[in-house]
Parts: sequence; structure tokens; C-alpha cells
Amino acid sequence: DEDLIATPVGTTLERYIMRKQAEFPFATGELSQLLRDIALAGKIINREVNRAGLSDVTGAYGRENVQGEQQQRLDMAAHIRFVRALRNGGQACAVLSEEEEAIIYTGNDQAKYVVAMDPLDGSSNIDVNVPIGTLFSIYSRVTPVGSKANETDFLQGGRKQVAAGYVLYGSSTMLVYTTGHGVAGFTYEPSLGEFFLSHPDLRIPATGTTFSCNEGYWFEYPAYVRTYLENCKRSRMNGRYIGSLVADYHRNLLTGGIYLYPPTGKNLDGKLRLLYECYPLAFLIEQAGGAASTGTEAVLDVTPEHYHQRCPLIIGSAELVNEYLVCAAAEV
Ligand code: AHG
Ligand code: MN
Ligand code: MN
Ligand code: MN
Repeated sequence: DEDLIATPVGTTLERYIMRKQAEFPFATGELSQLLRDIALAGKIINREVNRAGLSDVTGAYGRENVQGEQQQRLDMAAHIRFVRALRNGGQACAVLSEEEEAIIYTGNDQAKYVVAMDPLDGSSNIDVNVPIGTLFSIYSRVTPVGSKANETDFLQGGRKQVAAGYVLYGSSTMLVYTTGHGVAGFTYEPSLGEFFLSHPDLRIPATGTTFSCNEGYWFEYPAYVRTYLENCKRSRMNGRYIGSLVADYHRNLLTGGIYLYPPTGKNLDGKLRLLYECYPLAFLIEQAGGAASTGTEAVLDVTPEHYHQRCPLIIGSAELVNEYLVCAAAEV
């Protein structure tokens, strides 16, 4: 019965990052260091999230962000923690956050990378103890090292991401990321303060039985979206919607399924933000063998025009996304 009490020690994130770096002889280690900094930010936010009900960090912050959303105190706490970790880490020259209209300069003009992030995803779930997350997307800057970063660094397009991922604060806390060579998932061991490799090669099943969308917008959806959703129900799929994108995405990644935030009558581009919600998840899903579409093109091919631009997101198992595209094409 030794196995019952054996501590599940495995590969730490640190060891994994080192091993991966060794596979690329020309790698200089800066991206590795940036990933470590992001993991540290994740741990710090995890600490805030875990004790949210006890501390002073729940509730409204009393300010709107550039998207016209009520910011929550934890949105801002996560934003501040994340920016600080990146500033102290030294590998990011600028940061774009959902919670700030303009890009934030870290003062590290010598750094090679820029990071776009959603520091706290699932704001409406904070105060009710439902899983939330953090999303990030990394580019190599196109402006010269030593100069000030600008919008050309952030508006390169989804295919130019060098890494992307998320932290999910769920029944356990996980870090999932890609550098374009598959997707790896790490589970946080709180007593050791370490992420351990738990999902070495995440692949989404080609199809699945879960559909996730906010059906409250039913009467706002275009007819083809309703047609698709009716098909899902006719084939007796399961409806699952947490309302935290990271959590809905993660479940579907593991079990197979489709997540939809389609255009609505009011918002033709849906609600989700291209740079720090749609791009990173689209990069991850393609790396995991799935698909992400706006309904007319691959999300990664959408041309970015401004920092907080929105984009419809249909993401998940390739076969299910294709069936959605058939419905969308039949409409026009
Ligand atoms: P955020 O909390 O970062 O602003 O993101 C909220 C997003 C996403 O997490 C979720 O999937 C979606 O909003 C839910 O929106 P609806 O309430 O419109 O379904
Ligand atoms: Mn928000
Ligand atoms: Mn979000
Ligand atoms: Mn957010």
C-alpha cells in the first residue's frame, strides 16, 4: 500500500522549463524566465483568490474599465500583482491589460517581450466562489530592443504569438501553456508552492458532447446560431456554462466540446477580447488539435486593429466547430 501514501512528486514546472530550453540550443533563456515570472504571478493571484471570502478583496472596485465593465476589487488586485511580477522579472518591456486602456511600460526597455493579459477572467464569479482564471499572450517585440515598445508590438496578429496560456483557479489550480510545441498542463501543489507537470500533452478530443454558451442571449443570436444550438440539443448534447471563459474552455479541452460566444444583435463582435482572451485560447486549441473560429475565419487570422477589440469566439473540438461553420455558411 506504499502507493497510497507516496507523495506524487514529479516534474516541477521549473525542471520542465529547463528541459525544454535545453532542446533549443539557440534559446537564450529569456522566455523561460518570463514563463517563470508568469507562474509566480499566478501563485500570488492564487493566494488572493483562495482567501477572497476572508479578505477585503471581494466586491466592486467602484470604477469602470475601458470596455464599460464594472471593475471588481480582485480584477484590480490581480492586475497590479501581474504587472508588478512582470516589471520585477525584467523580461517584458510592456504589458497590455484588460483593466487599463493604454499599454503599461515596465521600464525594462532592454527586454525582448511584450505580454497581453486578462488578469482576472470571470469577474462575475469572484464573489460566489466559482472558478476564475488568468490569461496571457506573449510576443517578441518588433520595435528595437532599447527603445520604447508601441502598438506594433501588440498588434502583430495571433499567429505571431510565441507563447500563451492561462491559470485556472478551480478545484485545483492549474497552469496550462504552449510555446507552439504542444500544450502542457501543471497542477499547483499548495503545500510545496510548486506547479507539477500533470498533463504533459493536452489534446482535445476530435468531437464531444458538451456545448457551452450563454443561452440567455437566445433572442439576440443570429438565426444560424440558434439552428446550431438546436442541433446540439437534438443530438442530446450536454449544456454546461460556468461563465468563466477559462473554466469553460478548460473543461471542454479535457472532455471534448464546443464553447461559443457568438455575435449578438447588440454586439456583432460578441463580447470577448481578441488580444488577451481569444488569441491565447485559439493558439492553445490549435496546438491541442482543436479549432477556433469567428464563424468566418480562424481566430488566429483575425487582423488586430486596436488593443481592446472584440471578436466572436467559437472554440473547441474540430468536428463541432466545423458543424457550426456549416450552419453559418448555410445562412448566407
Ligand atoms: P472578464 O471577467 O475578464 O471581463 O471576462 C468575462 C467573460 C468571460 O469570462 C465569460 O466567459 C464571459 O465574460 C461571460 O459573459 P456573459 O455573462 O455575457 O455570458
Ligand atoms: Mn472584465
Ligand atoms: Mn475575461
Ligand atoms: Mn478580466
